[in-house]
Amino acid sequence: NWRSVVEGVGAYLPEKTLTNADMEKLVDTTREWIEQRTGIRERHVAAEGETTSMLATRAAIAALKAAGRTADEIDLVIVATSTPDYTFPATATQVQAALGMTRGAAFDLQAVCSGFVYAVAVADKFLTSGTHERVLVIGAETFSRLLDWSDRTTCVLFGDGAGAMVLARQPGEGTIADRGVLTTHLRSDGRHRQKLFVDGGPSTTGTVGHLRMAGREVFRHAVGMVADVMDDAFTATGLTANDLNWFVPHQANERIIDASAEKMGIAQEKIIKTVSLHGNTSAASIPLALSVGVADGRIKKGDLVMIEAMGGGFTWGSAVIRW
Ligand code: ACO
Repeated sequence: NWRSVVEGVGAYLPEKTLTNADMEKLVDTTREWIEQRTGIRERHVAAEGETTSMLATRAAIAALKAAGRTADEIDLVIVATSTPDYTFPATATQVQAALGMTRGAAFDLQAVCSGFVYAVAVADKFLTSGTHERVLVIGAETFSRLLDWSDRTTCVLFGDGAGAMVLARQPGEGTIADRGVLTTHLRSDGRHRQKLFVDGGPSTTGTVGHLRMAGREVFRHAVGMVADVMDDAFTATGLTANDLNWFVPHQANERIIDASAEKMGIAQEKIIKTVSLHGNTSAASIPLALSVGVADGRIKKGDLVMIEAMGGGFTWGSAVIRW
């Protein structure tokens, strides 16, 4: 019985920030509107020439340091991103090269905001099947490059950043007392494409395109969808909301986070929220929040942590990890 155990997490946010007051100068909005509707106070924006793989590499180095590991102990790199450096090669291969790795494999995974949960699930399959020993799971995004900076309904919501986790294979008893990933649940439904998409791509327009979102529609579906996959996780493990130590949701919008927690009976003090600090960083938001929770001493060895996300596709998913 193999388990995928967390050895360390790390994160990186670009230096430049845009506060809600800065956004008032760019579009017809107010700081009150943004904060009340989303909980966001500021977002980070990558500098010119600073790419997703650069953010990912910084986060990866921090996670390796926290894990006490070196890059040559990694045999798989998965980068969850919707904002790759290039259409190809995969951003993960650029991270692999930047880390000085010449062994193992590296690939990207695209599930928009659910990307990190998807990547944890995929890494867990590689590790528990016994084929791989140690996986670097990264969520990294430069959504600032996809935004229509004249569209106030979307440009205020997103930011750039990266987070990473080192997951390693360790023997387990096969019970919920084991450390490691206890369960993962992934869903998608491509019929929802029009509600959240990018209006460009290599095979359609030959352009990069801009993010388009029917925000109210996304909101309407989000809470029910994440509740479904959280229910799946509770059913699979026999755990309840009371058993969780920490709830670390995708950081898109404070109202979605609070509504999901309330629906599932998760107490406010168990929620790790970082959306105010970086906005919606898509696949990077969960490892960014996990890194904050670990750094400030909230998430400790043995704690039960639930992660969940919902995003474009739609895609959605959950995982329960004993830290
Ligand atoms: N500043 C001021 N007013 C604005 C702004 C803004 N930045 N944006 C929209 N408004 C206006 C609208 O035009 C509208 O005006 P109207 O009533 O005169 O038409 C009014 O505010 C209300 O707009 P709604 O869209 O109904 O506002 P809502 O309360 O739904 O909040 C929001 C909008 C924040 C986008 C919300 O719907 C939301 O969070 N949705 C989910 C989005 C999300 O989390 N997406 C990420 C999914 S993850 C991924 O895969 C990328």
